[in-house]
This record gives sequence, structure tokens and C-alpha cells, in this order.
Amino acid sequence: MNRRQFLASASAIAVLPAPSLAAPDTLRLRAEAVTQQILPDGDGATSMLGFNGSMPGPTLRMRRGERVKIDVENGLDEGTTVHWHGIRLENQMDGVPVLTQDLINPGDTMTYSFVPPDAGTFWYHSHYISHEQAARGMIGPLIVEDDTPPDVDHDITVLLSDWHMQEDGSLVESYSNMHNLAHGGYMGNFARAFLSQAHVRSGDRVRLRLINAATNRIFPVTISGVTGHIVALDGMALAAPRPLSEIVLAPAQRVDLIVDVMGTVGFDMTTRQGPYQLAALTTDGANTDRQSSPISPLAGHDLPRPGEPTQHLTLTMMGGAMGGRHGGDNIWAFNNVSDLAEDPFGSFQRGETVRITMVNDTSFPHGIHLHGHHFFEVGEDGALGDVRDTTLVEAGASRDIICVFDNPGRWLLHCHMLSHAFGGMRTWVTVA
Ligand code: C2O
Ligand code: CU
Repeated sequence: MNRRQFLASASAIAVLPAPSLAAPDTLRLRAEAVTQQILPDGDGATSMLGFNGSMPGPTLRMRRGERVKIDVENGLDEGTTVHWHGIRLENQMDGVPVLTQDLINPGDTMTYSFVPPDAGTFWYHSHYISHEQAARGMIGPLIVEDDTPPDVDHDITVLLSDWHMQEDGSLVESYSNMHNLAHGGYMGNFARAFLSQAHVRSGDRVRLRLINAATNRIFPVTISGVTGHIVALDGMALAAPRPLSEIVLAPAQRVDLIVDVMGTVGFDMTTRQGPYQLAALTTDGANTDRQSSPISPLAGHDLPRPGEPTQHLTLTMMGGAMGGRHGGDNIWAFNNVSDLAEDPFGSFQRGETVRITMVNDTSFPHGIHLHGHHFFEVGEDGALGDVRDTTLVEAGASRDIICVFDNPGRWLLHCHMLSHAFGGMRTWVTVA
């Protein structure tokens, strides 16, 4: 992060475009070139990509258990697809070129249609040359509403990302720079959060939905001016809310919080040079009506309970610079294989419980994402831990996950540092 180049941080509040409420009719996303104010007001605007005229795209809101249709129109001059990250949907709606669909060509429209089974915080993004298209702005929040929403005064989306920009706000488009690909990935020199509203009152109880929509950056975030609890990770409710401390979000990860506002709410990224302000929610008056009450858990998920694993596979991350073990014929690999091979990494019977040991044999952290499913991280004690769709594995570390593969189809399994995925760190599994 070159803070000298962009000393002014994101204190100018930008508000996300208004939500598109899922009515019986179809939602619409048009992928197109947009001009967005990312740097503080007064600095240059950024020519980039987005949806419906803005970056990030509109917040899509839909109801759990109800079919939603989304027309995606391609207003770009190249192909695209959209992936609904974290939604356990039908395979042919997953938005992955080659594996689940053909590209949407320029001028064409594809209707995606699915029934979201889980209430929570998700997001959507381009899944075609996504290390470029998502970095250029093809990202947006997706909220599946709770059957019974928690008792809060505001429900606020906080989308985090970073961009590599010149002083004038224009993007530095070195997405495929080899040095970046072999290290931490294409990374921004300016970061900020987009909030769905700018003000709260002190005394309000607020739900915050943080989404890391950056292509490669891990965000360590502290939130000041509140007390509260973590209530969900990656769109899945925690059985017991957890006291709020520093949050670490790998690319694509989400966290939901319920907090009580005491004053201006600051969102700061921890950097080696100190805190870097991503956004702030200012207070406008006081809420004197709210009685203090404990924060209760959100309605639980209904993921299938894992049985005894019938397969135990190992997924070894390899490659990259700085002494990673090498294998495969691209920069990065899983188990000596770069990119999508003819054969899947795993073949599972529908409903099978599988344990996967993820070994990070590289010098960089990786956030590994499985499509179409959520899985349990296995804790140090061997017990089932958090439910996630993306798990962060530090350099040199390993992590076991347990997943019930109950969703038929061909599913991608890849590093969500999108430069690493482009550099070869992706594979797939099949569920019959
Ligand atoms: Cu967020 Cu393969 O995707
Ligand atoms: Cu990676």
C-alpha cells in the first residue's frame, strides 16, 4: 500500500446504489463500462466496469426458498459470466465458463434462475477472466433475507475492495503481470469500503454485512465505535454469537455482525504503517428508545450433518515465488497439476461425506473456495468448526475441511486470490 501516493483515505462516504428488491419479476444486471468516484470527492473518477451504471453493482436482495430470475445482459465488448458466490444453487446456474455454461457474448442476455436455500450475506462477480473483470469492477452484494430478520435499526452492507490506481484515478491495468501473479497477486494501492448508508444514531443496534470483494487482498479490519458480536460467517449463522475482535477476511469471505453504536463507526484496515481508514459511519442524533438486550443468534442453517468420511483427500498448494514447492506447468498448482485438468480432483457420490486436508506448501496465504457447497473447517481439537465457503490457509500451514457433497454437478475448487487462480491454482470436483 503506497500511502504517500494516496494519503487521503476514504473518509468521503460513498453510498452503495439502491437495492433491487426481488419482486415476483425478474432482476436485471447489465454488465457495462462505468465511471465511478472511488478516490475521495475532488480527486479523479475511475473508468472501469460495473453493473447498471455503477461499481459496485446494485445490491440484489432476494428471499430464502423463493425462485429468483436474474437477466444478465452483456454490454461489454468481450464475453462474460456471473457467479453467485456462496449460493448453493443448481450447477448450470453457477456461472463458470466451460464447466457449467458458455460465455455470454457481447450484446447477449442470459437468464440465471435459482432458489437460494440459505439466508445471509453473499455476493456476485464476474467469473470470466475474473482476475481482470472483477478487478475492473464486476462485483456486487447479494443479500438473501432472513425469514424473521433480527431486531435491528439498520441493516448495512459494507463492501471492501482495493484498486491499483494512478494519481488521477485511472486504473493501472497490469492484471497479468508475472511478478504479481507469482507473489500475492495484483493488489490495489488504494482501499476503501462502500457502505449502503452513511449515518446511524448513537444507541442504534445495527447489522453490518462485510464482504471482501477484493481480487487478492486479505483485509484485517477493526471496527471502532461499537460493541457487539459476530453472528455469521460466509452467509451461515453461528450457533452462538462471538464477541467482536479484529476480523480477518480473505478475498470472497463475509462476516455479519450485530453491534450497538456508541459513536462514529470507523472501519480501519490494519497495515504495517498503522490503521488505514476504509470508511466511517457518522452519527446523526441518538436513539433513546432501544432497550439493551442480548444479541441472539440468527436462525440456524440446515446443512446436512456430516457422517463418517468415506474419502480423505489431500490438496497440496504448490508454486509461486519465494521458495514454494514447484509442480504443474503454470505458476501455481494443486497436487502438481495447474489449471483445469481433464480429470477432476475428486469424484463423489451425492451425499458422501469427504475430508480434505489442504496443505499450503507455498510462501503465500491462499483463500480456497469450493463452489456449490459450504463445508466445516476442522478445529485444532478435531471437532467440526466454522462453516464456510472459502477458507484461509496461511503459508506453510494446513487445514482440514469436512464437506457433505450433496449438490450434483461439476464444481470449481480454487484459490480466491484471483491472480493465483488465473496462474493455475484451480481444479474441480464432480458430484454424481
Ligand atoms: Cu467467488 Cu469461483 O468464485
Ligand atoms: Cu492463492
